[in-house]
Parts: sequence; C-alpha cells; structure tokens
Amino acid sequence: MRIIFLGPPGAGKGTQAGRLVNYLQVPHISTGEMLRQAVREGTKVGQQVQLDMKAGRLVPDALIIAVTQERLVEPDCAKGFLLDGFPRTILQADALERFLATEGTEISGTIELRVPQDELFRRLMARAQKEGRTDDTPEVIQGRLNEYTQRTQPLVEFYKARNLHFPINGLAAVDDVFAEIQSVVARIRAGQPQPKTE
Ligand code: AP5
Repeated sequence: MRIIFLGPPGAGKGTQAGRLVNYLQVPHISTGEMLRQAVREGTKVGQQVQLDMKAGRLVPDALIIAVTQERLVEPDCAKGFLLDGFPRTILQADALERFLATEGTEISGTIELRVPQDELFRRLMARAQKEGRTDDTPEVIQGRLNEYTQRTQPLVEFYKARNLHFPINGLAAVDDVFAEIQSVVARIRAGQPQPKTE
C-alpha cells in the first residue's frame, strides 16, 4: 500500500500515521520530521530549510522532492509506505507520480483529514505547551494554514481527478478517526477507490 495523508497543520496526520504504519507494516515517511532532524543535526539541508520552517513557509519544491525521492528508493519502501506531509504542491505531486511511474508503481490512495480551523488552532496551541515546536506560535500557525489553503488544498482536486481521494472527518476522537481510516484502507484493498460522497 502506498498511501498519502493530506490535511492542514494539526489535522492529526502524525498521530494517525503512527497507528496506520503499525497496522500496514510500512515505513512512515514524515517530511516535516526528516527536515526537523536535518535542522537539529545542522546538515546542509537543515541549514537551507531552517528559516522557511521557522516562518511556517513551505521549503523549496526541488529540495523536498530530492530529499523524499532519496528516501523512497530505500529498500524498506519497496513493500509500500505512508507519506505524511508530502506532496504539498502540485509540482511535488507531479514529481511523485512521475517518479513512481519509473519504478512501475503508483499511489494506492490519498486520505484527507478534515478539521475546522478553530480546532486546528486549539490543538496546535495545546501542543505548543507540551512540545515547544518553534513553528507552533499563533502567527506562524496562521502562516502554515495559509500555505496549506493556497498551495496544498489544490491537491484534493488533483487526486479526485485520479479517483484516489478519500476525505474523512478528522474532528472525531483519535480512535474513531483511526477506525474510519481502516475502513478506507479496506475499500482501497477491495479495489473500490471512488468515494461515495464528498
Ligand atoms: P510538518 O511537520 O509536516 O507539519 P504540519 O503539516 O504543519 O503538521 P503538524 O505536525 O503540525 O500536524 P499533524 O497533522 O501531524 O497533527 P498532529 O498529529 O501532530 O511540516 C512542518 C514544516 O516542514 C512545514 O511548515 C514546511 O516548512 C516543512 N515541510 C514539510 N514537508 C514539506 C513539503 N512537502 N514541502 C514543503 N515544505 C515542507 O496533531 C496535532 C495535535 O493535535 C497533537 O497535539 C495531537 O495530540 C492532537 N490531536 C491529533 N488528533 C486529534 C484528535 N482526533 N482529537 C484531538 N486532538 C488530536
């Protein structure tokens, strides 16, 4: 299974990814986590993305495409993967599609976690108290939400056009959201990729 999680900051992608990779036994590829690690380690990539991340801006397409492709060619991805935070622009989605085609594979489905903005703010401000991520301040959260609306939301239409898009209610309790994700996975496995409703 090659699944993409779509959803704005705070929608619960990381939370649900932890469960889904256990369930599917595939690697969790979180581009945000990979970049934060690069920043912590002070690598060349880390130095290049540090300012954009702190400001809540997307990092350059060419850079994140290269970083992600380097990860996807590792042997553990051969049996499938869960992408969390990539693609985030049409250019990234095009690059991913082309890359997978050269590998003779394709995406199995895209799961979009839908959560209203006021709840996203509430969750990220609560996380700021516990984890202290540098991009969890009110101004930067607003910037990240704007980036999502302008640059990532168009991916919904991109994947709908390919019959790969599965929207789910991310506002429910964590266990209930996961149950819905499991039922989407079952539908993808059964070869019923077109969602019933929007
Ligand atoms: P990234 O790390 O991907 O951050 P994000 O998309 O902003 O996502 P978050 O981690 O904030 O939220 P989440 O949806 O994972 O929610 P979570 O499960 O933590 O990206 C960071 C930065 O890296 C970007 O801004 C950009 O600069 C750069 N970047 C990364 N990928 C890139 C790309 N492809 N292109 C360009 N730039 C890129 O949950 C949030 C909180 O809510 C938690 O406290 C959790 O406990 C709680 N919660 C979760 N689910 C529920 C629930 N159902 N009910 C109640 N609380 C819940």
